[in-house]
Amino acid sequence: MAELTVALASDHAGVELKEIFREELTSKGFKVLDLGTNSKDSVDYPDFADKMASTLENAQADRGILICGTGIGISIAANRHKSVRAALCHNSTDAKFSRLHNDANVLALGARTMGPEVALDCLKVFLETEFEGGRHAARVAKMS
Ligand code: RB5
Repeated sequence: MAELTVALASDHAGVELKEIFREELTSKGFKVLDLGTNSKDSVDYPDFADKMASTLENAQADRGILICGTGIGISIAANRHKSVRAALCHNSTDAKFSRLHNDANVLALGARTMGPEVALDCLKVFLETEFEGGRHAARVAKMS
Protein backbone atom coordinates (compact mmCIF):
# COMPACT_ATOMS: atom_id res chain seq x y z
CA MET A 1 0.00 0.00 0.00
CA ALA A 2 2.75 2.44 0.90
CA GLU A 3 3.84 2.55 -2.75
CA LEU A 4 0.63 4.43 -3.59
CA THR A 5 0.76 8.10 -4.47
CA VAL A 6 -1.99 9.93 -2.64
CA ALA A 7 -3.10 13.41 -3.71
CA LEU A 8 -4.52 15.72 -1.04
CA ALA A 9 -6.61 18.83 -1.60
CA SER A 10 -8.86 20.95 0.56
CA ASP A 11 -10.42 24.35 0.84
CA HIS A 12 -9.65 26.66 3.78
CA ALA A 13 -11.99 24.70 6.07
CA GLY A 14 -10.01 21.52 5.54
CA VAL A 15 -6.48 22.82 5.64
CA GLU A 16 -5.68 21.66 9.20
CA LEU A 17 -7.00 18.15 8.63
CA LYS A 18 -5.12 18.00 5.34
CA GLU A 19 -1.91 18.79 7.23
CA ILE A 20 -2.62 15.98 9.73
CA PHE A 21 -3.16 13.62 6.78
CA ARG A 22 0.02 14.78 5.05
CA GLU A 23 2.07 13.99 8.16
CA GLU A 24 0.35 10.64 8.69
CA LEU A 25 0.80 9.53 5.07
CA THR A 26 4.41 10.68 4.90
CA SER A 27 5.24 8.85 8.15
CA LYS A 28 3.69 5.67 6.70
CA GLY A 29 5.82 5.91 3.54
CA PHE A 30 3.17 7.00 1.05
CA LYS A 31 4.10 9.42 -1.68
CA VAL A 32 2.04 12.55 -1.14
CA LEU A 33 1.03 15.17 -3.67
CA ASP A 34 -0.32 18.27 -1.91
CA LEU A 35 -2.59 20.22 -4.25
CA GLY A 36 -3.39 22.95 -1.71
CA THR A 37 -4.86 25.07 -0.36
CA ASN A 38 -2.18 25.88 2.17
CA SER A 39 -3.63 28.72 4.20
CA LYS A 40 -6.86 29.60 5.95
CA ASP A 41 -7.61 32.36 3.43
CA SER A 42 -11.00 31.74 1.88
CA VAL A 43 -10.94 29.81 -1.41
CA ASP A 44 -13.55 28.06 -3.56
CA TYR A 45 -13.75 24.28 -3.12
CA PRO A 46 -14.63 23.55 -6.80
CA ASP A 47 -11.17 24.79 -7.82
CA PHE A 48 -9.54 22.14 -5.65
CA ALA A 49 -11.92 19.42 -6.81
CA ASP A 50 -10.93 20.33 -10.38
CA LYS A 51 -7.22 20.11 -9.50
CA MET A 52 -7.81 16.66 -8.05
CA ALA A 53 -9.65 15.51 -11.18
CA SER A 54 -6.80 16.69 -13.43
CA THR A 55 -4.27 14.93 -11.22
CA LEU A 56 -6.16 11.63 -11.46
CA GLU A 57 -6.80 12.05 -15.20
CA ASN A 58 -3.07 12.52 -15.74
CA ALA A 59 -2.29 9.45 -13.60
CA GLN A 60 -0.18 11.54 -11.23
CA ALA A 61 -1.82 9.91 -8.21
CA ASP A 62 -3.47 6.59 -7.43
CA ARG A 63 -5.99 7.90 -4.93
CA GLY A 64 -7.21 11.29 -3.78
CA ILE A 65 -8.43 12.81 -0.56
CA LEU A 66 -10.67 15.90 -0.65
CA ILE A 67 -11.62 17.89 2.41
CA CYS A 68 -13.94 20.85 2.90
CA GLY A 69 -16.14 21.92 5.81
CA THR A 70 -18.72 19.19 5.31
CA GLY A 71 -17.20 17.25 2.42
CA ILE A 72 -20.42 17.89 0.51
CA GLY A 73 -19.47 20.72 -1.83
CA ILE A 74 -16.10 19.31 -2.75
CA SER A 75 -17.52 15.82 -3.43
CA ILE A 76 -20.32 17.21 -5.61
CA ALA A 77 -17.78 19.24 -7.59
CA ALA A 78 -15.37 16.31 -7.93
CA ASN A 79 -18.05 13.91 -9.13
CA ARG A 80 -18.76 16.11 -12.14
CA HIS A 81 -15.54 14.70 -13.59
CA LYS A 82 -15.56 11.31 -15.29
CA SER A 83 -12.22 10.36 -13.80
CA VAL A 84 -13.53 10.73 -10.26
CA ARG A 85 -15.59 8.46 -8.05
CA ALA A 86 -15.61 10.47 -4.85
CA ALA A 87 -17.21 8.99 -1.75
CA LEU A 88 -18.32 11.30 1.04
CA CYS A 89 -17.65 9.24 4.15
CA HIS A 90 -18.56 9.79 7.79
CA ASN A 91 -16.97 6.70 9.31
CA SER A 92 -14.68 3.80 8.42
CA THR A 93 -17.60 1.57 7.38
CA ASP A 94 -18.52 4.09 4.68
CA ALA A 95 -14.86 4.17 3.67
CA LYS A 96 -14.62 0.37 3.52
CA PHE A 97 -17.70 -0.06 1.32
CA SER A 98 -16.77 2.86 -0.89
CA ARG A 99 -13.75 0.78 -1.89
CA LEU A 100 -15.27 -2.73 -1.80
CA HIS A 101 -18.40 -1.93 -3.80
CA ASN A 102 -17.85 1.40 -5.57
CA ASP A 103 -14.14 1.37 -6.32
CA ALA A 104 -14.05 4.96 -5.08
CA ASN A 105 -10.81 6.66 -6.04
CA VAL A 106 -11.40 9.76 -3.92
CA LEU A 107 -12.27 9.94 -0.23
CA ALA A 108 -14.20 13.10 0.65
CA LEU A 109 -14.40 14.22 4.26
CA GLY A 110 -15.85 17.08 6.27
CA ALA A 111 -13.36 18.67 8.61
CA ARG A 112 -16.13 20.49 10.49
CA THR A 113 -18.29 17.40 10.92
CA MET A 114 -15.81 14.83 12.22
CA GLY A 115 -12.84 14.70 14.56
CA PRO A 116 -9.34 13.87 13.40
CA GLU A 117 -9.36 10.35 14.91
CA VAL A 118 -12.43 9.30 12.93
CA ALA A 119 -10.98 10.97 9.86
CA LEU A 120 -7.71 9.04 10.26
CA ASP A 121 -9.69 5.78 10.60
CA CYS A 122 -11.45 6.60 7.32
CA LEU A 123 -8.11 7.34 5.65
CA LYS A 124 -6.52 4.07 6.80
CA VAL A 125 -9.43 1.89 5.73
CA PHE A 126 -9.84 3.73 2.42
CA LEU A 127 -6.21 3.09 1.51
CA GLU A 128 -6.07 -0.51 2.74
CA THR A 129 -9.26 -1.82 1.13
CA GLU A 130 -9.28 -3.26 -2.37
CA PHE A 131 -12.22 -3.20 -4.79
CA GLU A 132 -14.18 -6.46 -4.59
CA GLY A 133 -14.94 -6.53 -8.34
CA GLY A 134 -17.34 -9.32 -9.37
CA ARG A 135 -20.95 -8.14 -9.53
CA HIS A 136 -19.85 -4.63 -8.59
CA ALA A 137 -17.58 -4.22 -11.61
CA ALA A 138 -20.41 -3.91 -14.15
CA ARG A 139 -22.22 -1.41 -11.94
CA VAL A 140 -19.14 0.75 -11.59
CA ALA A 141 -18.51 0.48 -15.37
CA LYS A 142 -22.04 1.81 -16.02
CA MET A 143 -21.11 5.04 -14.28
CA SER A 144 -18.45 5.85 -16.84
C1 RB5 B 1 -16.74 26.87 3.38
O1 RB5 B 1 -17.16 27.80 4.30
C2 RB5 B 1 -17.73 25.71 3.28
O2 RB5 B 1 -18.90 26.12 2.69
C3 RB5 B 1 -17.11 24.57 2.52
O3 RB5 B 1 -15.94 24.17 3.16
C4 RB5 B 1 -17.92 23.31 2.39
O4 RB5 B 1 -18.41 22.88 3.62
C5 RB5 B 1 -18.95 23.29 1.33
O5 RB5 B 1 -19.58 22.26 1.07
